[in-house]
Formats: sequence, C-alpha cells, structure tokens
Amino acid sequence: MEIYQIAIDGPSGSGKSTLAKGVAKKLGIMYLDTGAMYRTCALASILENVSPKDEVAVAALLSKTKIEVIFEDSVQHMLINGIDYTDKIRTPEVSIAASDISALPIVREKMVEMQRQIASNQTFVLDGRDIGSNVLPNAKYKFFLTADARKRAERRLLELNSKGDYSQSLEEVLADIEYRDKQDSERSNAPLVQVADAIGIDTSNISIEQTLEALLSHLN
Ligand code: DC
Repeated sequence: MEIYQIAIDGPSGSGKSTLAKGVAKKLGIMYLDTGAMYRTCALASILENVSPKDEVAVAALLSKTKIEVIFEDSVQHMLINGIDYTDKIRTPEVSIAASDISALPIVREKMVEMQRQIASNQTFVLDGRDIGSNVLPNAKYKFFLTADARKRAERRLLELNSKGDYSQSLEEVLADIEYRDKQDSERSNAPLVQVADAIGIDTSNISIEQTLEALLSHLN
C-alpha cells in the first residue's frame, strides 16, 4: 500500500489538531501532533530551570535529555527520559515557552529529524507550522488553516475551560496568541508561512465539522 503524508499547518487555535484527528479517524491513518514535540522540549526546560531562549543552555539540556514520541493504540504520548508527560504540556506557561524554544535552530533540527523519521514508515497526517514548507515539502496533500485571532482565542479559552483551567481571561489568551503568532511568523528558521501548493481554508466563520467536510472533499 502507498505511504503518503497529509500536512496541516496554521497558527495556534486555527483548529489544526481537531481536524487532523478527524482526518486520521476518517481515513484510518496515524496522526502526529508536532506542536506536542516542541511543547515537550519546553516542559523539559521548565523542569530543569533552563531559559527556553538560551540556545547554549537548551542545547546542553537536550544533549542529556531523551525526548521520545511513542504511540499506544495510535494515540501519541510524549516522554521525557522515559516518563510520560503527555497531560502536562498544555498549560499556558508551556505554550509560551514552546513558542520561545521552537525558534531555536538546534531544537528545530532535532524535532524535524524525528518528524521525518516517524512519518516515513506509515501514512500520517501531521499538524504544525512548517510541515508543508519544511518538514515534508513533498507531502501529497497540504492544507493551511487561518482564522481571526479573536476567534482563535475564544476557541482556546473554551478548550482550557473544558479541562477545568480557568486561570486566564479571554484578553490574556488573546495576548498569548498574538505573542505566539508574531514570534512563530517572524522567526528566521522555518517560520509559519503558507506555501503555494497548500490549500488555504479560513475557519473564522465555519465550524470544525464544516472544515472537516471541506478538507475530506479535497482528499476525495
Ligand atoms: O500547535 P501548538 O500550539 O501545540 O505548538 C506549540 C508551539 O510550537 C507553537 O508556538 C509553535 C511551535 N511549533 C513549531 O514551531 N513548528 C511546528 N511544526 C509545530 C509547533
């Protein structure tokens, strides 16, 4: 059977992960959340009191830290030195540190290598910022999602609240999103950018279900 990849890129809160999960389920393929990998590097730096902006210190940390992606029943788990931290990487603190640490070339180099390796063995849908532009430029299908920043902040707040996290207001979530948008788009190394061969979908005014339908109709 043919092995192929589907790339879904876009800014935080554009609905990438929900869509990628939906696509994976519908097509019976694997899903790799690449943001989770940067989040795990960020958590490792927080746990060791290393600044996520300090390239030398982060390089030293990564050289002695084992970051692993494992799949159990097709569900992705993130491990640091053998310990499962999957449910600890979605906090606002980790989100900001992930945006900082993902700007470091040494971190991107390691994560991109792992992503290419994982996606080479099986058919995968991957979501991130640079999948279609950098990680898998030959992906069979590429999508680029966008949405108004306030809409994305509202979605992120709902998601946090649904997990019992009421630590941030809408304005705070919006400020975090704007900080990350700016940093993710302006970094020199593999910034968030829509490549010419990606299909763009603006999800501001359509539901996730409608977006999934649109995406699947392209795949069919
Ligand atoms: O998609 P996310 O919010 O879980 O991603 C967390 C951070 O990781 C985000 O600020 C940008 C970064 N990231 C990246 O630089 N490249 C990717 N392929 C995925 C995420």
